[in-house]
Amino acid sequence: MQKIGFIGIGKMATAIIAGLDPTRFEILISGRDFSKTQKQAQELSAQAVTQHELVTKSDLIVLAVKPQVLPKVLTELSVDLTSDKTLVSIAAGLTLADLTELAQTAHQPIIRVMPNINAQIGQSTSAIVKNDFVTDQAYQATQEIFQAVGSVHEIAEKDFSTFAAIAGSSPAFIYMFIDALARAGVLHGLPKDKATKIVAETVQASAEMILQSGENPWSLVDKVSSPGGTTVAGVVSLEQNHFIGTVIDAITATVEKEKNLK
Ligand SMILES: NC(=O)c1ccc[n+]([C@@H]2O[C@H](COP(=O)([O-])OP(=O)(O)OC[C@H]3O[C@@H](n4cnc5c(N)ncnc54)[C@H](OP(=O)(O)O)[C@@H]3O)[C@@H](O)[C@H]2O)c1
Repeated sequence: MQKIGFIGIGKMATAIIAGLDPTRFEILISGRDFSKTQKQAQELSAQAVTQHELVTKSDLIVLAVKPQVLPKVLTELSVDLTSDKTLVSIAAGLTLADLTELAQTAHQPIIRVMPNINAQIGQSTSAIVKNDFVTDQAYQATQEIFQAVGSVHEIAEKDFSTFAAIAGSSPAFIYMFIDALARAGVLHGLPKDKATKIVAETVQASAEMILQSGENPWSLVDKVSSPGGTTVAGVVSLEQNHFIGTVIDAITATVEKEKNLK
C-alpha cells in the first residue's frame, strides 16, 4: 500500500484525506501542534507522526501549508529527503523551479496541484503539472488522490496562475455574485435564506446547463433574452455597469497577486 504523508492539516488537507479510500493508501499526518495532530489523526483514520518520521516513511509527501510557511517547512524537511520521495505541493504561487530550489536536491520528483475549496464536498476542480523526475506510478497515485475529491486537469505550468484565479479563487467571486443576487431578492421582498437557496440552485443548474449542452454561454444569454423583454433589460444594465470588464479586472488582479506571492 502506498504511504501518503500530509504536512499541514488544515481545511484542504482535511478535505482531501476525508475523500481517500483507506484501503488504497496509508495516511500519515504532521501538523504544527502534535497534540492537535493526534486528535485530527483519530478523526481522519490517519497516523500522527513527526515531520522527520513522515518524510522518511512516506512515498508521496503532500505539502498543505500556507504558501508563506512552505519555504521554511520545505527547507527543514530537505535534510531527510531522498530522490525516491515525490513532493506534492498545493501551495499557490510557488513554481516547480521554486520548489526544486527549496528542496535543495537536483533531481527531486515534484508535482504541483491546484485544488479548490469544493474539495470539501468532493467536487474540487484541480490542476496538475509535474517535473521530469516524477515516475508514472507517483503521478497516477497523485491523480487518484485528487480525483477522489473532484476532477483533475493537466495544464502547462505557465497557466497555473490563471487556473488558480479562475478555479482556485473564483468560488469567492461566485459566492459574492450569489449573495448580490439574493440581496437584490431581499430588496424586493424575499427573505434572505429563501432568496439565497433560490439563487444557489439557479447558479448550479445554469452551470450544469453549460456543461451538459456544450453551448457557448452567450448563446444561452440570447436564448433567455426575449425581444423587448425583462431579461434583456437586465443584461443591458449589467453591460452599462461594466459587468464583464469588472470581472476580468478581478481575475487579472488575482493572477498578478499569485505571481508575486513569494
Ligand atoms: N483553501 C483553499 O481554497 C485552497 C485552494 C487552493 C490551494 N490552497 C492551498 O492549500 C494550502 C493549505 O491551505 P488551507 O486552506 O488548507 O490552509 P489552512 O486551513 O490554514 O491550513 C494550513 C495548515 O498548516 C498548518 N501549519 C502551519 N505551520 C506549519 C508547520 N510549520 N508545520 C506543519 N503544519 C503547519 C496550520 O496549523 P495551525 O492551524 O495550527 O497553524 C494549518 O493547519 C495553501 O498552500 C493554499 O495555497 C488552498
